[in-house]
Amino acid sequence: MKKYSQILGTGSYLPEKILTNFDLEKIVDTTNEWIVERTGIRRRHIAEKHETALTMGEKAARNAMDAAGITPEEIGMIIVATTTPEKMFPSTACLLQQRFGIAGCPAFDLNSTACAGFMYAFSIADQYIRQGAIKYALVMGSEVMSRIVDWSDRTTCVLFGDGAGAVVLGASNKPGVLSTHLHADGTHKDVLSLDHSIGRPIDVEEELYIKMTGNQLFKLAVNILGDLFDETLEANSMKKSDVDWLVPHQANIRIIQAMAKKLDLPLDRVAITLEDQGNTSSASIPLALDKAVRDGRIQHGNTLLLEGFGGGLAWGSALIKY
Ligand code: UT7
Repeated sequence: MKKYSQILGTGSYLPEKILTNFDLEKIVDTTNEWIVERTGIRRRHIAEKHETALTMGEKAARNAMDAAGITPEEIGMIIVATTTPEKMFPSTACLLQQRFGIAGCPAFDLNSTACAGFMYAFSIADQYIRQGAIKYALVMGSEVMSRIVDWSDRTTCVLFGDGAGAVVLGASNKPGVLSTHLHADGTHKDVLSLDHSIGRPIDVEEELYIKMTGNQLFKLAVNILGDLFDETLEANSMKKSDVDWLVPHQANIRIIQAMAKKLDLPLDRVAITLEDQGNTSSASIPLALDKAVRDGRIQHGNTLLLEGFGGGLAWGSALIKY
């Protein structure tokens, strides 16, 4: 019988501290109206000084494992998508292993796929489970974006937030993850970047913060995601009307609206957390998924389309029978 991976549990963690658009009006030359109209964001969570991708990720992971009804000892692989790890190495995933008191299973971070990171991590875990190499995988996105934005740059600092979202995937004989699709195009390398790296050429000045040409990225995103939807549905011989829920990366409400329109889906069939969480990069898809699962909107049997895109450019999708 064909083997699938299936989503067995989801979990989230959001820092308590909230920064509203009105708070931002006091920091940079912006207005609540501009931010709401151009992005759809009203507030975002910001990590406390002691909180990191590791501490937030641990909480989200424990929630997801509880929801899946499995213990850390049963996990066969840990993949953490994060642009903001505590350390270059050991990976956040290895540090999580240590916190869970487990050892032996492969554990690694995906650091450079930015907002597409969760889709990349999810796809890798799905392949391992499909092949029968492992039974359970813990996949997450965890980000402290507040530490890599320039708080004097109004074009970026209003967009991002902190948080962690996790998923437990498990082997199943019944259809679960139907397909995943990953892409990248380095010709767009300058549209969204974080040049800061310990390994940069020694005569290159240190750049600590995200740089983005937002309007270019907006147009690229709408085009590549439209094509990605076609590819994903065609690979499964499905029609737009077969999709029950879109679970998108949360970058901009206007991009999300365009994608819902592309699928002929009403917005109440789209998992949206943008208004309250902003763009949490690789954490945004599992955070949106967890919210819609926990409040009962997403039900078993629903067909979900997940998509993410970000720096690279890199982008990816998954079609899932939940
Ligand atoms: O997760 C990774 C993927 N990220 C994305 O996909 C982001 C995609 N891009 C976007 O979401 C939008 O392009 C932004 C929200 C970033 C910007 O919205 P926009 O409608 O594309 O605005 P724009 O960049 O074309 O700027 C329009 C104007 C500019 O002023 P001038 O030159 O027309 O006078 C900006 O300086 O808006 C100005 N502006 C702001 N004004 C008030 C830019 N940021 C702000 C701000 N408050 N925070």
